[in-house]
Amino acid sequence: STMTNRVPPTLPAAVDESRQWARLMGMAMLGEIPGDGVDRAALTLLDRQARRLLIEWATEAGLTVSVDEMNNLFLRHEGLEPGAAPVLTGSHMDSQPNGGRFDGIWGVVAALEAVQAIRDAGLTTRRPIEVVAWTNEEGGRFAPGCMGSMAWSGHSASTTWDGVADLHGTTFRAALEEQMAAEADLPRRPLGPVGAARPSAYIEAHIEQGPLLEADMLDIGVVTGIQGSRWFVVDVAGRSDHAGTAPVSLRQDAVQEMVRIVNALNTLTHDPADVLRFTVGRVEVHPNTSNSVADRVRFTIDLRHPDADILREKGDAIAGTVQAALRHCTATVTERFTAMPTAFQELVPDAVEAAAEALGLRSLRMASGAFHDAQFLVPVCPSGMIFVPSRGGISHHPSEYTSPEQLAAGTRVLAATVWDLANR
Ligand code: GLV
Ligand code: MN
Ligand code: MN
Ligand code: MN
Repeated sequence: STMTNRVPPTLPAAVDESRQWARLMGMAMLGEIPGDGVDRAALTLLDRQARRLLIEWATEAGLTVSVDEMNNLFLRHEGLEPGAAPVLTGSHMDSQPNGGRFDGIWGVVAALEAVQAIRDAGLTTRRPIEVVAWTNEEGGRFAPGCMGSMAWSGHSASTTWDGVADLHGTTFRAALEEQMAAEADLPRRPLGPVGAARPSAYIEAHIEQGPLLEADMLDIGVVTGIQGSRWFVVDVAGRSDHAGTAPVSLRQDAVQEMVRIVNALNTLTHDPADVLRFTVGRVEVHPNTSNSVADRVRFTIDLRHPDADILREKGDAIAGTVQAALRHCTATVTERFTAMPTAFQELVPDAVEAAAEALGLRSLRMASGAFHDAQFLVPVCPSGMIFVPSRGGISHHPSEYTSPEQLAAGTRVLAATVWDLANR
């Protein structure tokens, strides 16, 4: 391909595998949980500490810091043409509550490593390079995920989630304001791809979170697109009652109603090919006590499919299926997140594939089953992702693992791709 032999020989060697690994292990201490896991929710003290650590490394390396009103964090490396549209690269720093050490954070650490490698290799770029850490990608504390990139890209207004509360009743707006106040010393930038901040391309490095690369002993996933996701919240309302005295036949038991609803939804979403993915991941029960009938249940639905028509049809059928399953309670269904299947433009996947080939790495074109901030960048600029193997395909779990060597290989591809895109 056209990129072959175009990776400067000094660049791969300038990617520092042990520096990157040490940084990841340092980040993993912020929110460390048993079994090598991480619990670092968005807009918490731990998140602030992780951001300060990143900022320390980046400013030592000569990058300049700015933060927008969604708390998205940017670290800028100047190019030879300061007014040129930057290449944007990064991911997220928040984790799932029972998460691992690599989901998200590697893409941010790798982006900084790529910039440092380009510099340490004595290379210049025509365009600036900006490293970004998007706010609340996981949606574990405040649902949905990808709030930072959705607001930045104009997919949603930045006030959309003001009233969304975590399990302790803290709203997203309150947590955001607290974090912005704690970072009042950091320079601000306008929200969005406005003026000189509009990128020429976006690239995100991430662990695969699935088994394909490992199974075929491959190094790099060239991500071609992302399957669609729809998130719903179902609120079931019944009546609290005494567990010992209230006849079962007279109850309005919200937990029993939830069971009926989930059974009906399992039937609706059953897919013999196991491509449609249906998950009930959070259940909140009120009053949540052993000897009272529940009067309220709130549960979440996460529905995913790579085909827009199927995702539309099945997602649109959820509300009716819920209503049809009711016997003794009432229920409402609210859609919280809609991300239709996304295909990346050819530019970035082609550049990633060419870089992997030039570096002698084995790559595979593949779609992502997880959602990522990258899908919200597609309407803004050519976008794409680099995957590295996940041991056992496991993620959103403490045992999530990718070796230092595998991560360094991914970062070499990122550095080569960013260098290439930043000189176009
Ligand atoms: C993101 O973490 C997802 O759930 O795909
Ligand atoms: Mn992630
Ligand atoms: Mn994740
Ligand atoms: Mn994710």
